[in-house]
Amino acid sequence: MKLSVRALHHVDLEEVLRIEQECFPSAWTDTEFQRFLAMDGVRAFIVAYRRLTCGFYVVELDSQRLRVLNLAVDPVFRRRGVARFLLGKIEALAKAQRRPRIELEVRETNLAAQLLYRKAGYRAVEILREHYGNEDGYLMRRELWPHESSA
Ligand SMILES: CC(C)(COP(=O)(O)OP(=O)(O)OC[C@H]1O[C@@H](n2cnc3c(N)ncnc32)[C@H](O)[C@@H]1OP(=O)(O)O)[C@@H](O)C(=O)NCCC(=O)NCCS
Repeated sequence: MKLSVRALHHVDLEEVLRIEQECFPSAWTDTEFQRFLAMDGVRAFIVAYRRLTCGFYVVELDSQRLRVLNLAVDPVFRRRGVARFLLGKIEALAKAQRRPRIELEVRETNLAAQLLYRKAGYRAVEILREHYGNEDGYLMRRELWPHESSA
């Protein structure tokens, strides 16, 4: 499947919101998307197959790291390597921007995402107590230059 990636534009929001609502119990609203997209250091992208949007991701570059704020794949495109592809793009962006690590948060019950991240080299480094209402989460991290950052 030949995938492409490009910056998320306002015209993409309707489709992105549809995917978001199908993916998350507490989905970001249109207003929340707009708020994040307006923040300094935040960048958002969509992944497309031909002209179809099959996933998206939103990241924030701060001084130390790249944080993944949101990431989802349309259910009809799952288990075909879309998320693996977009994690590769995220890693390339972090390296191009000279950020030594990538961090993200994931629900304790979201096993599919945890397996995805573990396979891509992320490790759980902290339990986030009641981060999602009653539910705990994990902070997961991938060090891109482990020897340099631990020196
Ligand atoms: C988690 C999610 C992004 C995975 O997307 P995807 O495109 O289906 O993932 P990929 O096809 O790239 O899978 C790569 C690997 O991740 C793991 N994986 C992904 N989904 C899995 C699942 N449902 N069960 C078990 N392992 C899974 C597998 O190891 C898989 O490799 P394999 O297919 O060769 O076994 C997708 O299920 C999703 O959008 N979920 C809802 C939103 C979400 O949870 N976002 C992350 C928030 S932190």
